[in-house]
Amino acid sequence: MCGIVGYVGRRNAVPILVQALKDLEYRGYDSAGIAVLAPESNRLVIVKREGKIARLEAALAEAGIPDANLGIGHTRWATHGRPADHNAHPHTSCHGEVVVIHNGIVENYAELRAELVSRGHRFASETDTETVAHLMEEQLAEGHSLLDALRLVAGRLEGSQAIVAASPREPNALVAARVGNAGGIVIGFGEGESFLASDLPALLPHTRRVVFLEDGQFARVSADDVLVVGRDGARLEIPVHEVALDPSSALKGPYPHFMLKEMLEQPEAISDTIRSLVTFEPPTLHLDDVPISPERLRQVQRVVLIGMGTSLHAAMVGRQFVEQIARLPAEADNASEFRHREPVIDARTLVVSVTQSGETVDVLEAMAVAARAGALQITVCNTEGSQATRLADGTVYTRAGVERCVASTKCFTTALAALYGLALWLGHIRGVLDSGELQHHLSELMRVPDACARALELRPAAQRLAAELASTASMLYLGRGLAYPVAMEGALKMKEVSYIHAEGYAAGEMKHGPIALIEPSVPTVAVAPKHALRSKMAANVEQVRARGGRVIAVVTEGDEELIRLADAALPVPEVSRLAEPIVAVVPLQLLAYETAVARGCDVDQPRNLAKTVTVE
Ligand code: F6R
Repeated sequence: MCGIVGYVGRRNAVPILVQALKDLEYRGYDSAGIAVLAPESNRLVIVKREGKIARLEAALAEAGIPDANLGIGHTRWATHGRPADHNAHPHTSCHGEVVVIHNGIVENYAELRAELVSRGHRFASETDTETVAHLMEEQLAEGHSLLDALRLVAGRLEGSQAIVAASPREPNALVAARVGNAGGIVIGFGEGESFLASDLPALLPHTRRVVFLEDGQFARVSADDVLVVGRDGARLEIPVHEVALDPSSALKGPYPHFMLKEMLEQPEAISDTIRSLVTFEPPTLHLDDVPISPERLRQVQRVVLIGMGTSLHAAMVGRQFVEQIARLPAEADNASEFRHREPVIDARTLVVSVTQSGETVDVLEAMAVAARAGALQITVCNTEGSQATRLADGTVYTRAGVERCVASTKCFTTALAALYGLALWLGHIRGVLDSGELQHHLSELMRVPDACARALELRPAAQRLAAELASTASMLYLGRGLAYPVAMEGALKMKEVSYIHAEGYAAGEMKHGPIALIEPSVPTVAVAPKHALRSKMAANVEQVRARGGRVIAVVTEGDEELIRLADAALPVPEVSRLAEPIVAVVPLQLLAYETAVARGCDVDQPRNLAKTVTVE
């Protein structure tokens, strides 16, 4: 969850690190810090502060930190030790010989700390990370190189970790480790300079030539050279990737929030995603990054879709696509539950993981369970080179570009488009969908970007409703069929960004409990577009209204009956049944955004959240 950056080269590291931390602030933002190696004294200078990067910047200006050619930086999402200056990273050892930044959890840290204390070490923080600095200092004292010290210490840590360290003993190099799936380490190659980061966005302003460390790999990075070794210390030859992401897409531009910018980017992002999967005239599908033979796919008897949060909601929609288009038994599961419950899967199961970042630990661990069972795996992912894309047998990339707002919007709708494409592909290969039907679906799918663009015009209507919702404490979201996961997603967006308590339910469930909550102060959002069991939804709307509840309905344009029945309506353009969820979610995103703005919330960085969740 935390953001990690490092620089070694000929330029002043400080502004580079600060900017890179800003690019990664979405990963965690309860404290931040940097450490540089002062060139004249060859001493480590560390500045860190609780709070956002702006506070760190003020502290750096005050401290008069020296120009330096080597440094590391960190933005934190607290696991061990409350957010406070002394718990912020980087952490150093007793004699200031090592400085460390870390992402992950040292599960046996209490034991290691007790052991270190018994040998006379004194700790300055309550973090698990600090144990790493102390253990590394001991290894350096025994004469090991910095890289070997990290490698040997990593061998003693339980859990998954990404670590970067520096030391005055080796003033020209940084070292890095990746153990397990707690988070990535990407090394970037510049001209006479090198970079390290937990995620690509921090490197893109500088270079597109990168190396991704895998589980069990360790690196020593200097200005002109990178050495990667395995757990045994033997040198490894690692391929350098050229990444294609456009750094300008990561900037906020004229928009007040990334969330707004990213919602407005959806028509283009969905269109890019569809175009990357479809060749036109006649429309056919080509999943270039899924090198799985038709024979192997025809062996599949069941599909399990997994994800977390918004990606789980996409998986829930995807499950219905697979059932209804490819006619394969399908289920959707929360990745963190799936991985712990000994799921019954085998080589005839296709596991489809949905993950924007490709680095969510619950998803990666679930993928590892699937791999051990011999299942075939496809990931629907937005991040090239991420761990999920490397674990899966094939990837369907969403072409959303970098998503910076912690609350996901364009990655949800592009994932739905990609899952629709994947289900069509499976259906076609398995012979349940002929070319004519495939082309019909594809032409329906291609109408979605325009329909989303029109749905985005509901922003003023969402703004008006938000003014009323701003004082609400609790809300219900209801939907059926393909609109059920959309209702869940609408509720998640609302609670994430506005902190209003919101629950998403299958509308059929309402009478079995949630109806007890209905009262004038608890608004209900009914997601009732034309094809999602609309007449049954109309009955739900009546039931809520009969109990004095207020209803906001997402309906298909022209549905005058529902528009009259509801207290307020958000009409979306008509699209085909399977494309409806992609369009119906747009007004719910707008409603959550405008309500959060009306309540004065920190839209892009809601409290307690992080964009990429790399701890369990
Ligand atoms: C919510 C949100 C999260 C993520 C979840 C999975 O707006 O963004 O619920 O969807 O943390 O992340 P990925 O898709 O990166 O695996």
